[in-house]
Amino acid sequence: MPEPAAGKPAVPAPGILPRRTERLLLRPFRHEDEADVLAYRSREEVVRYMPADPLSEGAAHAFVAERLQATQIAADNDRIILAVEHGGRVIGDVLIGTGQLADRQAEIGWAFNPEYHGRGLATEAARELLSLAFGDLDMHRAWAQLDPRNIASARLCERLGMRKEAHFVQDMWFKGEWRDTAIYALLAAEWRESSVARSMSERHR
Ligand SMILES: CC(C)(COP(=O)(O)OP(=O)(O)OC[C@H]1O[C@@H](n2cnc3c(N)ncnc32)[C@H](O)[C@@H]1OP(=O)(O)O)[C@@H](O)C(=O)NCCC(=O)NCCS
Repeated sequence: MPEPAAGKPAVPAPGILPRRTERLLLRPFRHEDEADVLAYRSREEVVRYMPADPLSEGAAHAFVAERLQATQIAADNDRIILAVEHGGRVIGDVLIGTGQLADRQAEIGWAFNPEYHGRGLATEAARELLSLAFGDLDMHRAWAQLDPRNIASARLCERLGMRKEAHFVQDMWFKGEWRDTAIYALLAAEWRESSVARSMSERHR
């Protein structure tokens, strides 16, 4: 017997964006975001483990333009890419991507301005991303891939309750060297359980 919602297209209900958290606003990109995005995406340390090169001033307009339309998951290979705003500035970006919609697998990713690291802001944004993926888009599994040397990103996955499921050795030629790939993942049922546990512990604080 097929799983009840299997194959259900993850067409989002209207009004699921933007998202507010305690300290953040997650919203679609706008053209005036270019300067804020350049402030972190142009830094070598930010893109070190990402496929992108440091963003140049000349490429910032196209970078934002490409992301303006990534606001819904309604067809195979769609992506939602959101600017993460804090105190009126874009301090990072997050994404949910899908392959075949019917598989209900959400790849998630993030990049934040180093000036805002170490305060739990990426964790807060990524938790909201999971809520969007599971709560609104009815995804079955969320997963992230990263270079295992990217300790900050691996720790973020662990804070989200994701499980390390794989470590592929030298599976990718990346920026002039063979690199490993780690895969972290979380199932919708696990997310529901941990959300209930977290809200209960917050209520008892
Ligand atoms: C991955 C990345 C987003 C993680 O950033 P981060 O600052 O470590 O993550 P957070 O904002 O969630 O902050 C967590 C840190 O703040 C601390 N912290 C402080 N207050 C906190 C709070 N209220 N909640 C959670 N953590 C808090 C945590 O202890 C943690 O520090 P630790 O790792 O030393 O234990 C960041 O390193 C980044 O943008 N890297 C470049 C882009 C990149 O590589 N992207 C991934 C490609 S796969």
